[in-house]
Amino acid sequence: MRFDLVTLMPAMFDALTKEGVVARAIGRQLAQIELWNPRDYTRDVHRTVDDRPYGGGPGMVMKYQPLQQAIESALSASPQAKVVYMSPQGVGFDQQRAQTVVENRQPLLLIAGRYEGVDERIIERYVDEEWSIGDYVLSGGELAAMVVLDAVIRLIPGALGDADSAQQDSFMDGLLDCPHYTRPEQIDGMSVPLVLQGGNHDAIRRWRLQQALKRTRERRPDLLQDRQMTVEEEKLLAEIIAASGDAEQTQEQ
Ligand code: ADE
Repeated sequence: MRFDLVTLMPAMFDALTKEGVVARAIGRQLAQIELWNPRDYTRDVHRTVDDRPYGGGPGMVMKYQPLQQAIESALSASPQAKVVYMSPQGVGFDQQRAQTVVENRQPLLLIAGRYEGVDERIIERYVDEEWSIGDYVLSGGELAAMVVLDAVIRLIPGALGDADSAQQDSFMDGLLDCPHYTRPEQIDGMSVPLVLQGGNHDAIRRWRLQQALKRTRERRPDLLQDRQMTVEEEKLLAEIIAASGDAEQTQEQ
């Protein structure tokens, strides 16, 4: 899959492309990332990419022309790309959006802004969608773009070592992840749950599902609100609720 990035800080992307899952996906030719720097498209000796905002106020705004030419170059190399501007004003980027990108094999052209943002006319003319990675303001869109690329690229079939491991992630089926353990069996007085030490695969699957439901209920009850539960999930959740009710009663006594 192809991903293009418009950024004034291309070196930041070394963090993503030189090590880890994304580096391996690039090595396996599952993902291709191309960087386009608006500074390379400036026409003045100072290579100016920003200017003062109309109407006054603090900060600078990314100028239309260098950004436009960087975007046009990226689009001629990847004409099918969906153009996404990374911004706190955007719609929330989540696992569902990451999955949709991979399912549709949708090439992306991500624009990382700096300063106070980009000239609005760039958004009007080129941007299909604005995505936010959370309700906080970063100093630029680069980290946000890297978050999107990591979340998407790891879902490309073959990107992860174990074919199943993305399927078992948190959120992949709308629940938080269950706890994980590795050797030793006992450490600092804590032991691995017995069910995981046995070989009963169905009991293990049920335990994991129940733990995922328990954590989701405790930490992110909003995720359970609209969930279409299976009969098994209803039963496992009822057990959790009964157990927590018992625990509360015991505390009260
Ligand atoms: N750029 C600055 N802050 C951002 C955020 N929260 N999400 C996406 N892009 C951003």
